[in-house]
Amino acid sequence: MIKIEKMNLKDYEQIKDKLQNEFDNFWTDTILKSELENENSIYIVAKKNENIVGFAGIIILPDDVEITNIVTKKTERKKGIGKMLLDKLIEISKTTKKETISLEVNEKNTIAIKLYEKFGFEKVGLRKKYYNGKDNAIIMTKILI
Ligand SMILES: CC(C)(COP(=O)(O)OP(=O)(O)OC[C@H]1O[C@@H](n2cnc3c(N)ncnc32)[C@H](O)[C@@H]1OP(=O)(O)O)[C@@H](O)C(=O)NCCC(=O)NCCS
Repeated sequence: MIKIEKMNLKDYEQIKDKLQNEFDNFWTDTILKSELENENSIYIVAKKNENIVGFAGIIILPDDVEITNIVTKKTERKKGIGKMLLDKLIEISKTTKKETISLEVNEKNTIAIKLYEKFGFEKVGLRKKYYNGKDNAIIMTKILI
């Protein structure tokens, strides 16, 4: 059984050295820690028997909520954890009363784009050469209210 909880510092300690190898994430532990300490950010974890199998977060901006990260542990993908995390982020975002929830995604990341489209996100813009000076970022948005 998977449960979704707010991420705390103990959770951070459990995954901080595993971000690159086990989660294949582009974030360093320093970035994740500073995001956790940001009072406008909310992070959640997916746990399977107390082991973290995914995490995701948002930052609440004046006019919008932005998804900053969503990642499932490599060995636990394609089991619905990404959908559970995104569903929870949207539920939390609705309580902020902001109009939209947005994100940037590498246009080559077709798996993530499919996931977002499944939840009603639409492509609204493009940032050219946003990733490594090479890959374009697609901006996607969903109306919350
Ligand atoms: C994107 C990611 C979070 C999806 O996590 P997941 O737990 O595997 O996702 P789910 O099992 O809930 O699948 C959700 C949907 O994604 C799509 N998807 C997942 N894996 C897929 C694959 N291998 N091929 C095609 N589509 C896939 C499907 O649309 C799927 O819905 P479905 O099962 O109803 O068909 C995961 O691949 C990941 O961590 N990627 C690396 C980090 C990343 O790129 N994050 C996005 C940053 S913007």
